[in-house]
Amino acid sequence: MSARPRIGIIVGSTRPVRVGRPVADELVSIIETAGADAVMLDLAEQRLPLLDEALPPASGVRTNDHTIAWAEQIDALDGIVFLTPDYNSGYPAALKNAIDYLKAEWEGKPAAIVSYGWAGGRSAAAQLASVLRYIGVALQGAGVQMPFQSTDFDESMRMVDAPAFVARSRDELQASIELVVAAAADELVAV
Ligand SMILES: Cc1cc2nc3c(=O)[nH]c(=O)nc-3n(C[C@H](O)[C@H](O)[C@H](O)COP(=O)(O)O)c2cc1C
Repeated sequence: MSARPRIGIIVGSTRPVRVGRPVADELVSIIETAGADAVMLDLAEQRLPLLDEALPPASGVRTNDHTIAWAEQIDALDGIVFLTPDYNSGYPAALKNAIDYLKAEWEGKPAAIVSYGWAGGRSAAAQLASVLRYIGVALQGAGVQMPFQSTDFDESMRMVDAPAFVARSRDELQASIELVVAAAADELVAV
């Protein structure tokens, strides 16, 4: 029997009250339905400092414990879902920082971008796709853009029902994640 691919969910937002984590929690069952195991990689929990390695990541030299731990977690994945909000027409600094820490671990990794925002996070997704292609991530399909509606938020701008928000894009998410799982499974067979 072949092993189930391990698909990481990289939660790109780190604010104390955020949409990112409850949305990421909803992606777990979609990944599992697609035949893979989900691994939550929440940047708010990783607490990576701003890049503090002396040598560039392409050197492969890692000296700090947090760099080594982050590298090991990414290396252990067979595929990745990058989950990003749209911050001022781009993706969050914490996500760029987490990407910049590594090089070889990203290369060839099947992945999809899932974004959210008032226009579905399309600017953030486009910017992130450009960077991920540059570092050699194997993006599968066009990803998924999840647009907010005003009724998604209460008067204090907290999302009222993250499962309902994700459910509106469930078919698209399932199709996108299935592409990542299929590519990840192919890589597992090839090894
Ligand atoms: C710094 C910042 C910038 C934002 N810029 C945008 C934007 O350009 N486009 C957009 O649709 N929403 C924007 N928003 C609203 C976010 O889409 C919304 O707050 C969302 O919940 C952010 O994701 P998070 O809760 O996971 O941090 C911005 C929010 C923040 C905090």
